[in-house]
Amino acid sequence: MKYKILELETKIKNSLEQLGYQTDEVIINPSNRPELGDYQYNGIMPLAKKNNLNPIELANKLLIKIKEYPEIKNASVAGPGFINLTFSDDFLINFINESNNNITINYKEDVNKTIFLDYGGPNVAKVLHVGHLRSANIGEALKRLCKAIGYKTISDVHLGDWGRPMGMVILEIKTRYPNLAYFKENYNNEPVDFNITNEDLLELYPIATTKAKENPDIMEEARKINLDLQNKHPGYYSLWQKIVEVSVNEVKKLYQDLNVSFDLWEGESDNFLYMNEMLDYLYNNNYIIESEGAKVIPVKLEDDNLEMPPLIVIKSNGAVSYEATDLAALWERTKKYNPDEIWYMTDKRQSLHFNQVFRASTKTGITKDTTKLIFNGFGTMNGKDGKPFKTRDGGVMPLANLLDMVTEECLKRLSENVTENRNSIARTIAIAAIKYADLLPFRGTDYNFDIDKFTDLNGKTGTYLLYSTIRMKSLLNKANTNEYKYQTISTETERKIILAMLDLKRVIKRSFENYSLNEICEYLYKITSLYNNFYAENKILTEENELKKTSWLALTKTIYDNNCYLLDILGINIPEKM
Ligand code: ARG
Repeated sequence: MKYKILELETKIKNSLEQLGYQTDEVIINPSNRPELGDYQYNGIMPLAKKNNLNPIELANKLLIKIKEYPEIKNASVAGPGFINLTFSDDFLINFINESNNNITINYKEDVNKTIFLDYGGPNVAKVLHVGHLRSANIGEALKRLCKAIGYKTISDVHLGDWGRPMGMVILEIKTRYPNLAYFKENYNNEPVDFNITNEDLLELYPIATTKAKENPDIMEEARKINLDLQNKHPGYYSLWQKIVEVSVNEVKKLYQDLNVSFDLWEGESDNFLYMNEMLDYLYNNNYIIESEGAKVIPVKLEDDNLEMPPLIVIKSNGAVSYEATDLAALWERTKKYNPDEIWYMTDKRQSLHFNQVFRASTKTGITKDTTKLIFNGFGTMNGKDGKPFKTRDGGVMPLANLLDMVTEECLKRLSENVTENRNSIARTIAIAAIKYADLLPFRGTDYNFDIDKFTDLNGKTGTYLLYSTIRMKSLLNKANTNEYKYQTISTETERKIILAMLDLKRVIKRSFENYSLNEICEYLYKITSLYNNFYAENKILTEENELKKTSWLALTKTIYDNNCYLLDILGINIPEKM
């Protein structure tokens, strides 16, 4: 499918260059006066100013070139130098026919690159919350976008499975079940009959961490256990493996529901295997200095006006830091996969952390100067009151509960005509509603959780998109044809739809450049609502004029395919019915 707006922009840029005028970027926009043209180019005035020219003269010179473009039926200059462009019907008709079953959005030349994506970031034994939801949604959709453009990707869930909390959890289990074989002096990796569920772990974790925080002796003991664990104490290590297994099984189920998947299920513990090697390298090359009892890497630059404390590698209490773990992860990833780019998707409040890590990594040569390290921070999901989203009693809302809550709402709203698989269909709709609401605002922006708004069948929602897309499919099924040929544009609305569709490649480009899915979400809504206007205005199946009917079916098919393709990039599944 050739998405002409991007190509047209390049053509205009080239024409201007042929006339002798360099311009960074040509941007054309849908016309706000459709009677004058389909699209508009407003860049003449600034360009004329830069070159000391009369804008009307420059516009007229460009116009001569534009009139030679085969896809343009009409072009004219208006006002102080705006250029209005109107596409020929033939071109628009061809565009729909070419698009059928042939969507390609790759517009880049450097696609033999590998992009490594770090997202999800669930913590073992700890409840997943909405921050983890956003990381999974955004990361998964960005991965799919990279793939659609043609990049090779590697995704890693980056489990929080290592560090002090693990010591605390093991200590709490030890306190409750002191006689477990894991804690015996002579334990030697024999299987232990001990069943612990994810619910147990979720109950245990806050108790264990609170106890340690309130009691220095408990904290000290947890620290020792953690140290032993790091040295692979047989009992602690086996118990830890069990805890990780239980947690990971649960998390995998949740991700499967969310249509989120990973190539790698590595965790901080895997990165830790490279810690000594990396530390040796850093010490041997004198990158690490002592500061207030800690071992640090200074990362402030001379012309820095950012608050930029040194990166702490080893804390003053001897513990390895979160920063060091991320450095070890970079060490490992470079060694194993040598990706061209590494992207991180977490809450934007981790921005300083990643800034420090990236600087330290490049400075010390853990990663090469040419490896692009990118932090894609996202905003928080807030409650209706605009404050971070909480449960009714003020606690953190577990992700699983949030999904259940929305599923229930979707079940209530599900049509009575759906008689089978109601629960699983409601679940799929709920996930779509949540994902779309999550991806709709610009990545860095906070947004408010509003269940009624997100699940509204008539709003800018995932529910609306699913409903409309399913209706297109059902119409196509009823028409039961397999030859689609668009032949004539017979209504204004059709024309509007096609004009909007021309923009896809540019939407993709901007989404990729901003590492944000918001433009794709807006585009989907725009096309879908235009189509729904068209659907309401015309009786497609009973239309007597064959030419019109065939064309309308072909248009429906293109839009249906387009919607499926883009919903899939967003990681949204479409149920059979709703
Ligand atoms: N587990 C972390 C958290 O819950 C997120 C991990 C993000 N990724 C990373 N490489 N640090 O906050």
